[in-house]
Amino acid sequence: MSRLKVMTVFGTRPEAIKMAPLALELASRPEFDALCCVTAQHREMLDSVLNIFSLKPDYDLNIMEPRQTLSTITAKCLTGMDGVLEEARPDLVLVHGDTSTTFAGALAAFYHKIPVGHVEAGLRTYDKWSPYPEEMNRKMVGAIADLHFCPTPSNRDNLARETITQGVFLTGNTVIDALQTTVVKDFSFSEDILNRIDYVNRNVILVTCHRRENYGQPMTNIMTALRRIADAFPDTELVYPVHLSPVVQEAAHTYLDRHPRIHLIAPLDVREMHNLMARCHLVMTDSGGLQEEAPALGKPVLVLRRETERPEAVAAGTVRLAGVEEETIFQMAAQLLSDRDAYNKMAHAVNPYGDGRACRRIADAIAWRFGLQAMPPEEFYGPVPEPM
Ligand code: UD1
Ligand code: UDP
Repeated sequence: MSRLKVMTVFGTRPEAIKMAPLALELASRPEFDALCCVTAQHREMLDSVLNIFSLKPDYDLNIMEPRQTLSTITAKCLTGMDGVLEEARPDLVLVHGDTSTTFAGALAAFYHKIPVGHVEAGLRTYDKWSPYPEEMNRKMVGAIADLHFCPTPSNRDNLARETITQGVFLTGNTVIDALQTTVVKDFSFSEDILNRIDYVNRNVILVTCHRRENYGQPMTNIMTALRRIADAFPDTELVYPVHLSPVVQEAAHTYLDRHPRIHLIAPLDVREMHNLMARCHLVMTDSGGLQEEAPALGKPVLVLRRETERPEAVAAGTVRLAGVEEETIFQMAAQLLSDRDAYNKMAHAVNPYGDGRACRRIADAIAWRFGLQAMPPEEFYGPVPEPM
């Protein structure tokens, strides 16, 4: 039996965290010849993930530059992928999520008439400007892809509304696979400050913020609200690993520097991040990935955005949309910091996003689609009954 050549393509931190377990799963199975291409849309933040998962890419386009524009990322990925695909000639290209790398990777594969599998398919806000440019990236990849690996049933419903019903698999999110390998009981942090914080007697708020649509006034509002929270609640400690984007660095340091209980630190490696999340009191974030991870760890999340493409944990009551206005963000955080019942209502572990077996299902689905195994995988939520 000849092996199926499957190439994973990714470039940013979140794609790497969510694709690493899949790349490792593919590499471990005899039916696949697993190749990995990174665009390095992110550099340091990508390399950190590659190190943690001991993943060695076969191709590295090394495209990152400071303050890169969407056009330069897309153009460099697209032309870079040309040479890679010509040389490697994979049978299938797998992309993840909704970044510029995702879109350019899928488009390059399409130009080379190579089938595309989309991991984390079917997330939608139906607002083309938010998240920007991610909503359009994932829609365009949805139109190109041949295989769609949906984390949740509502993601699959979104695709069905766009008449995408073929090659769709309900798998759960691979981030839960990753999370199960990283969180441990007695974790020692490499950042000294993280070892010194009293997680039992202090309310530690884990903060991240980086989205392009929050650049400018929304980010100013968010930072101002965070400082007010630290001032108003002396028992809080804010820990904010600041994204390396110069725009974000500038905003965070302008508004949050020189406060004794606000800790602006360098981005954490994924193990440190997950273990910090497991120990914190509350998460405030505009990140997509954190909205999936924190509920699984029983941590309430205030989402610093106007909308979310991840409604499942909102419905389960562990995630709330706080928006991007200073007063609302402050009031919502204040309620959780002062009202024990309100906090407890949100602080229960739910995991609508996966069961830790998404990568195995994706590999099985690929093997089945290409005739290498007899049966498709069981779906994440078990078989959905046929309508009567
Ligand atoms: C990108 C994705 C976004 C994702 C985010 C995850 C797009 C359009 N955006 O946004 O969907 O949520 O990654 O973090 O694809 N930088 C470094 N070192 C790094 C990483 C970034 O210096 O390791 C700096 C560079 O100056 C770079 C800038 O950050 O130009 C912005 O990076 P970029 O990938 O363009 O955008 P993100 O905001 O990270
Ligand atoms: N993350 C990390 N270190 C950090 C901040 C985030 O490892 O300092 C992880 C986080 O746990 C999640 C992923 O990075 O798995 C989310 O990435 P990000 O917020 O940059 O992107 P998004 O998910 O919004 O696309």
